Amino acid sequence: MKRHILICGASRGLGLGLVRAFLDAGWQVHAVVRELRPASPLDALRTQHPETLHVITCDLNRLDASCRIEAALHGQRLDCALFNAGVYGPSHQDPRQAEVDNIGLLFLANAVAPVRLAQQLAGQVLDGGVIACMSSQMASVELALAADMPLYGASKAALNSLLRSWQAQLPELPWSLLALHPGWVRTDMGGDAAPLSVEQSANGLREVITRQLGQSQCAFIDYQGQPLPW
Ligand SMILES: NC(=O)c1ccc[n+]([C@@H]2O[C@H](COP(=O)([O-])OP(=O)(O)OC[C@H]3O[C@@H](n4cnc5c(N)ncnc54)[C@H](OP(=O)(O)O)[C@@H]3O)[C@@H](O)[C@H]2O)c1
Repeated sequence: MKRHILICGASRGLGLGLVRAFLDAGWQVHAVVRELRPASPLDALRTQHPETLHVITCDLNRLDASCRIEAALHGQRLDCALFNAGVYGPSHQDPRQAEVDNIGLLFLANAVAPVRLAQQLAGQVLDGGVIACMSSQMASVELALAADMPLYGASKAALNSLLRSWQAQLPELPWSLLALHPGWVRTDMGGDAAPLSVEQSANGLREVITRQLGQSQCAFIDYQGQPLPW
């Protein structure tokens, strides 16, 4: 039986790398992108893997995003739902300059939309599966690493807080609920100076997720499976 994973935010960067990593491991991948650009890397992957890569187009910030994704899944249950999409927010990263539009978009894209989608699509995830959101070590209030990017860090801390609140609302976890730190990775967001390639991070995250199958815990862990303080 093939394992099925939903990867949201798969057009480029880590999301695209995760699509490759799970296809390489023989999983069936449902990849959600805002739009499928012709001749893009994801389009080329779809041509190479017509049976195992299913592309769903949807803006994840939309209120009806879960309905669109659920309809596209046609009842297919998932071993893993991975909410990877994220944005950096305003380049100034200064609360004193924050405007309602850019701050609203940052917290919607990085915190509210992924948790809302996870909650709405949780019924599609098999018991013993994994629901994971791409967080960041910048989310850790205890580590306090986000001095250079406080708004981004706050949005990821809000994501982690929403995950912990959801966990507290559930009498028991039928699946694992993960906040993942991918490492510092060379992508459009991570920049050229980052030490990790997309492939290194994505392969590590694939191993972390695969090891979680069959467990049910809420954890904040990095791409090597190391726990991080909330
Ligand atoms: N890179 C790092 O070092 C690093 C470190 C810690 C955490 N992270 C987190 O890891 C995740 C991936 O980061 P990355 O470096 O790969 O970023 P990236 O290169 O900027 O890619 C972001 C991805 O999110 C998608 N996305 C954003 N908003 C979306 C929406 N409303 N609907 C659909 N897709 C949307 C983008 O799609 P479009 O192409 O349509 O814009 C793109 O595929 C993010 O959550 C990020 O915060 C990254």
